[in-house]
Amino acid sequence: MNHKYFNFLAAILLLYAVACSSGPTKTTEAEETTKPYTEKYRPQFHFSPDSAWMNDPNGMVYYEGEYHLFYQYYPDSTVWGPMHWGHAISTDLVHWQHMPIALYPDSLGYIFSGSAVVDWNNTSGFGSAENPPLIAIFTYHNPEIAKAGGVDVESQAIAYSLDKGRSWTKYEGNPVIPNDGNRDFRDPNVIWNEEIQKWNLVLSAHDHVQIYTSDDLKNWKHESDFGIDAGTHDGVWECPDLFPLQVEGTDETKWVLIVNINPGGPNGGSGTQYFLGDFDGHEFSADSKDTNWVDWGRDNYAGVTWSDVPKEDGRRIFLGWMSNWAYAQLVPTEKWRSAMTLPRTLSLIKKKEQYVLKSSPVKEAELITANSATVNSDEALKISGVKELDIEGLTLNQSRLSLEFEMGETLPESFGILLENELGENVTLSYSASAEQFQFDRTQSGDMSFSDQFSGISVAPYKIGSTVKLEIFVDAASAEIFVDGGDLVMTEIFFNSQPFSKLKVFAEGQSLTLVNAKCTGINSIW
Ligand code: FRU
Repeated sequence: MNHKYFNFLAAILLLYAVACSSGPTKTTEAEETTKPYTEKYRPQFHFSPDSAWMNDPNGMVYYEGEYHLFYQYYPDSTVWGPMHWGHAISTDLVHWQHMPIALYPDSLGYIFSGSAVVDWNNTSGFGSAENPPLIAIFTYHNPEIAKAGGVDVESQAIAYSLDKGRSWTKYEGNPVIPNDGNRDFRDPNVIWNEEIQKWNLVLSAHDHVQIYTSDDLKNWKHESDFGIDAGTHDGVWECPDLFPLQVEGTDETKWVLIVNINPGGPNGGSGTQYFLGDFDGHEFSADSKDTNWVDWGRDNYAGVTWSDVPKEDGRRIFLGWMSNWAYAQLVPTEKWRSAMTLPRTLSLIKKKEQYVLKSSPVKEAELITANSATVNSDEALKISGVKELDIEGLTLNQSRLSLEFEMGETLPESFGILLENELGENVTLSYSASAEQFQFDRTQSGDMSFSDQFSGISVAPYKIGSTVKLEIFVDAASAEIFVDGGDLVMTEIFFNSQPFSKLKVFAEGQSLTLVNAKCTGINSIW
């Protein structure tokens, strides 16, 4: 028999057999591999673009039941290029719907980072009181001027939407803030300031931020500068955000100024610092000029917060880009590059006379939790040395781990947890009592060959109490670690070649007690 004919017949028979045996809901293998969001390293419950390059979150605004997420996007490649604003919408902060590109580069330049607001009183005149416009405020980055070595490369511009963010019209009077002689002059972030009944804008200008006011979002007055003598200056200041936050359990309000910096982060490369202080609508004065970090991990950058979250809700919700410019363009994903963090609720607490900005995953994260394994429900577990926990077959690579440790009389020299696969690749989170710090070790995490800046151990200073709670979200190629409800946060990515299947806890030097351990599976949002 002709071989070709035989192969063809065999294939038909095989397809028929598969179709009959697998029932109506199963897909064939061919379909399975082309199914989106199943690629190697693809996050299952974090936002990532369908394809191509993404960096900073932009224009985050809530309007009429929808959370908008725009983002720095280059649709033609998996590395950075002429920037667009990609767009996605969510009604619950966890499930995202991809939307068409919102803003394309034009003769004034690429569309760099920025923010968006609802112009409720139609101060800009682009809409009406009945249909207030959404206003996007972004940076134009002119590549021609950059190439020619000019300084006036960056300026601020606006665009408006009258159809709930579906289509955007750029203002013909752009730029609304022309370049002022700073080569780095970008990432405008706008809020409505109730107290002075004006708009405030904060942007970054290389080594400081500038603060502006406006009545109509088109005409801006430069009010003041902050930062030349404050914070860290090992890199360029980028993507600021300025907003008030009530101190938990009090009537006191502090202003939070977030300033991203690259390089110069706490563990190398990109990082997000913040300052707390007072703001009268014109000038920001910091309580302390020292740097605080929003996140001590290496992979949370360019994070800013949503505007116009309803007062009844009252949350300040933060989202960051889960990567680091030190290696972002080299990470081993093929179809797309990078993801966002989980949205996080920011809160301010006073701890031993010190204010601390906490972040914790938004409560909507509960919506996607699946089955869970309570590792030890009745009995507390004494840990001395290394112990593997029984996670009852749950997929660690897509999970939420909640662990509570109780210290004995003396602290162990070190304790922590380890996620490991069959190949021995692992990531470890440990606490060192002598160094008083948490450490995240990804030196044996899998593929690290793409950059010599990737491997390493991140450290985060922290004083623990008699108990420690760890909440860890693991999603394919990332871990978001929240210590004691978000007093300390670390976000790190990694590229293990097989999923993690073992969860181990350890205590060295002294024993401790694991009083609670729960491992919860998380459903895919796609
Ligand atoms: C931060 C950043 C911003 C800039 C954008 C360009 O990651 O460098 O300062 O607007 O990315 O894509």
